[in-house]
Amino acid sequence: MKKVVVLTGAGISAESGISTFRDSDGLWEQYRVEDVATHDAYLRNPKLVLDFYNERRRQLFQVQPNEAHRQLVRLEERYDVHIVTQNIDNLHEQAGSSQVLHLHGLLTQARSDRDDNLIVDIGDRDIHLGDKAPDGAQLRPHIVWFGEAVPNIEPATELCEKADIFIVVGTSLNVYPAAGLIHYVPRSSPCYLVDPKAVSVSRPVTTFAEKATTGVKKVVDELMNQ
Ligand code: APR
Repeated sequence: MKKVVVLTGAGISAESGISTFRDSDGLWEQYRVEDVATHDAYLRNPKLVLDFYNERRRQLFQVQPNEAHRQLVRLEERYDVHIVTQNIDNLHEQAGSSQVLHLHGLLTQARSDRDDNLIVDIGDRDIHLGDKAPDGAQLRPHIVWFGEAVPNIEPATELCEKADIFIVVGTSLNVYPAAGLIHYVPRSSPCYLVDPKAVSVSRPVTTFAEKATTGVKKVVDELMNQ
């Protein structure tokens, strides 16, 4: 089976009702990254940061996957599909994708703020000051904050190096190292991009300049008919 690697960003979840970050109504228009999405912010005002992610988690449990997520599951009928997502929602998993790699963490997980490897599933539960990990340390969101290491970038890079087909959906490609993954895709592998706005990429791509729910279906239809 040919390997398809799909790099997704906030745009694939937009039509499910989850805000993106850099669109006009995006999250970074309402909050400053340095107040809610860095380790310093967490040290300075842990309650604000915990509540920011509690709000994101509550929103996640109000929404459903959309047609774009579902079309990527359909692709698994013909291809070995690996989703590499920057999203911290679990909509790909809810839709039924079987191979999902999160680069920036997952809202439904938390970890000890003393041991990055001590991760616990919390589902839709809030995290509050005083909530402890098994090692007795404070629980923090299992989210990669700006400036923190991206442990899954190595396996993501390995996947891209072996991609027969690469699809980019709903990301402004503003944030590294995720945005650099496209450079590891073999030059001979066709690339597709789905986004209503123009996104600058460093190699030829077949672009579907439209929203994910219609654009992803067109890409999947094309690949299923090959
Ligand atoms: N369908 C497809 N794409 C869409 C849609 C839609 N309905 N709506 C918006 N988009 C596109 C936007 O045009 C934009 O290119 O989704 C992209 C969203 O870009 P960002 O808001 O920058 O989100 P993302 O690229 O995922 O951000 C990357 O930055 O803030 C950090 O960690 C955070 O994972 C995030 C990372």
